[in-house]
Amino acid sequence: MSAYDVIVIGSGPGGYVCAIRCAQLGLKTACVEGRETLGGTCLNIGCIPSKALLHATHMLHEAEHNFAAMGLKGKSPSVDWQQMQAYKTDVIGQNTKGIEFLFKKNKIDWIKGWASIPEAGKVKVGDEVHEAKNIVIATGSEVAPLKGVEVDEKTVVSSEGALSLNKVPKTMTVIGAGVIGLEMGSVYRRLGAEVTVIEYLDVITPGMDGEVQKSFKRLLEKQGLQFVMGAAVQGVDTAKGKATTRYKLNKDGSEHTLDSDIVLLATGRKPFTDGLGLDALGVKMSPRGQIETDAHWATSVKGIHAIGDAIKGPMLAHKAEDEGMAVAEVLAGKAGHVNYGVIPGVIYTHPEVASVGMTEEQLKEAGTPYKAGKFSFMGNGRAKANFAADGFVKILAHKETDRILGAHIIGPMAGDLIHEICVAMEFGAAAQDLALTCHAHPTYSEAVREAALACGDGPIHS
Ligand code: NAI
Repeated sequence: MSAYDVIVIGSGPGGYVCAIRCAQLGLKTACVEGRETLGGTCLNIGCIPSKALLHATHMLHEAEHNFAAMGLKGKSPSVDWQQMQAYKTDVIGQNTKGIEFLFKKNKIDWIKGWASIPEAGKVKVGDEVHEAKNIVIATGSEVAPLKGVEVDEKTVVSSEGALSLNKVPKTMTVIGAGVIGLEMGSVYRRLGAEVTVIEYLDVITPGMDGEVQKSFKRLLEKQGLQFVMGAAVQGVDTAKGKATTRYKLNKDGSEHTLDSDIVLLATGRKPFTDGLGLDALGVKMSPRGQIETDAHWATSVKGIHAIGDAIKGPMLAHKAEDEGMAVAEVLAGKAGHVNYGVIPGVIYTHPEVASVGMTEEQLKEAGTPYKAGKFSFMGNGRAKANFAADGFVKILAHKETDRILGAHIIGPMAGDLIHEICVAMEFGAAAQDLALTCHAHPTYSEAVREAALACGDGPIHS
């Protein structure tokens, strides 16, 4: 038995970041991970491998659609799926080994195995019980089941199986037009699959700014993705390695079927807390299966904290990371803090979609007086040169004070551009502050400045 100041359970972005910060702050720290490699869902079967496939297939798209126009002639590259998979596996390895290196550097013990908590202050892994003054649960999330749909990771896959299909399917049905469905749907569309997305609501990416939703759907349709909107999936039947998806249209209750080689279930995730023994401990849970925490990420049981996908809030790696750093500070006697009002969300399709803060719909509902400054990438020289002029930047600012309340970008590098606005919001900036900041020319960032100018006297290039 060994004694620690902190044992973190789970080594995803929430857990490993928490462990590193704990160690940096002088706490004797261990992290329990049952997977063969560190990094959790994000590094092993989520964010990182999907970005490798998105990057590779975007390059293919560029070669097929834009190279000739730039004078780069010759045969388009053909797809070697096994090599693309090997590239993806290499990227995963580089990242997971990186975390292992950081653990060693920070003298964090990796306890290999699956943890349970027999009582506060104790973590059991295999036959060993380890003592810890504090326990942080960072066990993440898993695919939420959908009635009538059985995931076998071969014909009916979750995001995990979708990253490692045996071959590129001819046809693919995606259930759910959320982040996973659209990112993975884009990958296979670019590889030549016929992709149909079935979505329960009448809009894609629920919760996102309405104007972005519309523009995003139009651009995805232009790329060849097909949508069946307002349709509830009733079930999927498989036979001889093919799938038939049954769905009902909400508007008239009519029943339909769709055949495909592969079905991707992407209708959401749920907290993963199985096997921890939280029931017996009396840890308070929400009706949605999330661990309930207070403002300092403490659960209802003293000495046990929880962060990331296992608690409330958006299921995003960077939200978990921020909570991981903050709870480490709390455990070290400092003031940990997360500003939940400024957490960006990014969809890594092409073009990318990024947002932070309030949407126009939320501002209207709250009755907040606001103004919207919008600028199209059509007016951005760099975007035009790079065949990336689809999309826009929209900044929402308070009508009277000009304080930035939210921003929504669809366009090139949106996921990077959004951070300028995040920083501005952290500093309580006005749109005018961005508008008066010199932006290098020619950059995509100029579109952010122009949107800020559009909140005032108007943009220059439109
Ligand atoms: P999601 O919550 O983003 O989207 C699920 C979609 O499925 C919704 O549009 C919903 O209306 C629809 N749906 C639900 N039931 C349905 C039914 N029976 N028939 C048809 N449609 C139905 O969930 P998703 O895409 O699975 O992602 C899970 C989590 O992972 C999310 O919280 C997401 O934020 C996170 N994630 C984030 C990424 C990023 O930040 N780039 C990448 C991948 C995942």
